[in-house]
Amino acid sequence: MLPSPPPKLKSQCLAVCVLYTQGIGNKEWREFGRTEVIENTLNPEFVRKFILDYFFEERQNLRFDLYDVDSKSSNLSKHDFLGQAFCTLGEVVGSLGSRMEKPMAGIPGKKCGNIIVKAEEMGNCRESVMMQFCGNKLDKKDFFGKSDPFLVFYRSNEDGTFTICHKTEVVKNTLNPVWQAFKIPVRALCNGDYDRTIKIECYDWERDGSHDFIGEFTTSYRELSRGQSQFNVYEVINQKKKGKKKKYLNSGTVTLLSFLVDIEVTFLDYIKGGTQINFTVAIDFTASNGNPAQPTSLHYMSPYQMNAYAMALKAVGEIIQDYDSDKMFPALGFGAKLPPDGRVSHEFALNGNPQNPYCAGIDGVMEAYYQSLKSVCLYGPTNFSPVINHVARYAASVNDGSQYFVLLIITDGVISDMAQTKESIVNASCLPMSIIIVGVGPAEFDAMIELDGDEVRISSRGRYAERDIVQFVPFRDYIDRTGNHILSMARLAKDVLAEIPDQFLSYMRTRGIKPLPTPPPYTPPGYPVQSPNGHPLNTPPGHPLQTQI
Ligand SMILES: *[C@@H]1O[C@H](CO)[C@@H](O)[C@H](O)[C@H]1NC(C)=O
Ligand SMILES: *[C@@H]1O[C@H](CO)[C@@H](O)[C@H](O)[C@H]1NC(C)=O
Ligand SMILES: *[C@@H]1O[C@H](CO)[C@@H](O)[C@H](O)[C@H]1NC(C)=O
Repeated sequence: MLPSPPPKLKSQCLAVCVLYTQGIGNKEWREFGRTEVIENTLNPEFVRKFILDYFFEERQNLRFDLYDVDSKSSNLSKHDFLGQAFCTLGEVVGSLGSRMEKPMAGIPGKKCGNIIVKAEEMGNCRESVMMQFCGNKLDKKDFFGKSDPFLVFYRSNEDGTFTICHKTEVVKNTLNPVWQAFKIPVRALCNGDYDRTIKIECYDWERDGSHDFIGEFTTSYRELSRGQSQFNVYEVINQKKKGKKKKYLNSGTVTLLSFLVDIEVTFLDYIKGGTQINFTVAIDFTASNGNPAQPTSLHYMSPYQMNAYAMALKAVGEIIQDYDSDKMFPALGFGAKLPPDGRVSHEFALNGNPQNPYCAGIDGVMEAYYQSLKSVCLYGPTNFSPVINHVARYAASVNDGSQYFVLLIITDGVISDMAQTKESIVNASCLPMSIIIVGVGPAEFDAMIELDGDEVRISSRGRYAERDIVQFVPFRDYIDRTGNHILSMARLAKDVLAEIPDQFLSYMRTRGIKPLPTPPPYTPPGYPVQSPNGHPLNTPPGHPLQTQI
């Protein structure tokens, strides 16, 4: 991080920056960590890196507070507050080159300078290794025949326990097996820690599952990374046998035949290289939602509470907008009669301007949604195909990986044009596009589950979708029983967005599109850079990416 140039920094200023994270649901800020203290500069460049877990599908709020350190006290209220900045982790990683700059605030009437935050994905989160082993003169365990050896790999945990992370296949009836090469993420093998113990056990396979232990040995990623050499021939030791037999040497050896590191390209590599997510919203204005003037309507506008449409829109939109640099979102409606002539439309601009359907930010979309509820007349039928084709037309014109399109359809679920919608989805499955469908209200959503295609790949007239591009969720499954809407929205967004990075990568991979190189590292004008300010990220289950900021 390099806040520059902060406010009233005196010449003897000692600056420290404190990072806070916020829990989902409750709004409580927790201190995550502090940078080192930097002396005597208006442009402190902090070197300390913070390692955070990054989830595309979550809104991860961050706060940076800058202080002038006056005393030795670790109590921040004893120091001079210089300003603060709020952002989300998505905003940082979604910025070009994963470098975000924004003004700091917090002291009324004062300019507090700017903060620059850089994120970098942790390298060892995306490494995989391809390894191959063979055995030599392993113990003979079977009465008839030799042994049927296989290897079991364990990663060690911080508490000294071991977790199984890989099993090889069984090679039948040999004491000199050559196992097939296998690929394993470095995270699974050693949690990204190159010096951590890796334990390998060798067994003789038995049909009834009572496999006979041949012996074991330990190593580490760092040792293995030396590749095939005398350092990577391991004696397989059976401690019990060793204890009993004076002359025991070993139960054979296992040799590493090859070790190849493979760095996987991640979703963030594309975002860092400038790929934009183009987010389009489509809202169901059919009569089955109920008269918006009535509290029973799914479109009811209460002054006290957002309706389900607004909540779904805000929940998903606020996360996606971090990856869309202009934050201008086309917003469409379908299934209403429009003024002035009462014509039914399945593809109209919520802001009433078909030439320019863009709304500024998610707040702009919400505003346009509320406005259109006042002007259009809910009607029908519920056709999805026109809005899907609308976005697909644009998606079809971008095939260089510079944009990926996400269409959010919010509906009460009574779909009328199932056949055309399936065909539109099959058509769109070869485009840089994903479709999120959020079902609101109490309807049966069987048709939507079919469109989702998680179980059976969707098809139309004998053609199958090239890849799964639809994610459906019913909002009612996410409503928090205690009435905490922030929690409901966070849960909805999490599930609905979880598949997007994989859908995105499946498109890029099958098209052979590589991420663009990251723009050159930024050098702040006017003062020398003291240290490289690259920083890694950390990834959790699904899309764990560790990000360092
Ligand atoms: C920090 O200092 C403030 C005011 O001096 C005090 O109210 C607060 O209790 C202190 N906090 C801690 C954790 O000591
Ligand atoms: C994003 O997609 C919409 C179609 O849904 C299109 O109108 C708009 O031009 C696209 N934006 C950009 C920047 O290409
Ligand atoms: C799907 O694509 C085909 C071929 O381009 C086109 O003829 C058809 O109209 C499309 N289907 C829909 C529902 O848009």
